[in-house]
Amino acid sequence: MALERTLSIIKPDAVKKNVIGEILARFEKAGLKIVGAKMKQLTREEAEGFYAVHKERPFFKALVEFMISGPVMIQVLEGEGAVLKNRDLMGATNPKEAAAGTIRADFADSIDANAVHGSDSAENAAIEIKFFFNDSDVVSH
Ligand code: PPS
Repeated sequence: MALERTLSIIKPDAVKKNVIGEILARFEKAGLKIVGAKMKQLTREEAEGFYAVHKERPFFKALVEFMISGPVMIQVLEGEGAVLKNRDLMGATNPKEAAAGTIRADFADSIDANAVHGSDSAENAAIEIKFFFNDSDVVSH
């Protein structure tokens, strides 16, 4: 499997619940390395830009409001098959459908406030990482 990078966001609901450490521990236990990280209060423009692909969806406005409702923690995760590994750790978008033991099953309350974001492909990961990080803010191990 190839060494990949993926973008992870710990969303405002999980930050408010004080479970950043528990979520990061799951990434590390799964063999993913945190090679970039920052706390950030997203602006409306940033949230709209990041989720622009969903701008015609009925939930877009609510998604943007939620993502700017409090600070988020944004990380770049690196590891073998990092994109899929992170998606497996996160569980399904709707926590009601997320497998037991996944981040969303354990920490998310609803599809609108679902604790984490993770890139869905290596191509999108590269775009999403560039959206939030300069090359010099991501380290190599
Ligand atoms: S889809 O339908 O496959 O495009 O959905 P998905 O890519 O999994 O999710 C799109 C992002 O929007 C967030 N979101 C919702 N999705 C579906 N329905 C509702 N009501 C909804 N509300 C918010 C969902 O969590 C995805 O965000 P990210 O941050 O990418 O996980």
